[in-house]
Amino acid sequence: MTERTLVLAKPDAVARGLTGEIIKRLETRGLRLAALKMIWIDEELATRHYSAHVGKPFFEGLVQYITSLPVVAMVWEGPSAVSVMRTTMGATNPAQAQPGTIRGDFGMDISNNLVHGSDSLESAEKEIELFFREEEIFSWKRPHETYISGE
Ligand code: RTP
Ligand code: MG
Repeated sequence: MTERTLVLAKPDAVARGLTGEIIKRLETRGLRLAALKMIWIDEELATRHYSAHVGKPFFEGLVQYITSLPVVAMVWEGPSAVSVMRTTMGATNPAQAQPGTIRGDFGMDISNNLVHGSDSLESAEKEIELFFREEEIFSWKRPHETYISGE
């Protein structure tokens, strides 16, 4: 099923010049970029985006980190986009992420783990709404995809 997922190149990825690398990996994996903007997340948006983690011991540090520099927010679209993004980004703790994943290739620290990807279709829908208006998101197809996936 065609899905949309929210991806963030987090502050450490922007600071380290890894935004292009993240985009490249998702493009070559086969997802389609549907929306993109740079945004400096404020405390309110951070709290809404990470509402599932309010009250956890790492929450304050997480908000400080995600608001420390601008992020590059994106919507990526394609078949099983949510799980395709999760497998491309790797485990939450980069120290345990497989080589070949974004976190496994570029990170070591759970607090500075470079990328965000929605963890379910339900989260994706909510998160995309937090960052983008519907008219900012473009659905499109590569002509040759008809031959590959029948989409
Ligand atoms: P994200 O939401 O940022 O894409 O990451 P995720 O799904 O892989 O991980 P999640 O469980 O949603 O946690 C959100 C972020 O909180 C930080 N965290 N720190 N110290 C800790 O035990 C701990 N656990 C989670 C991570 O930076 C994680 O990305
Ligand atoms: Mg998460």
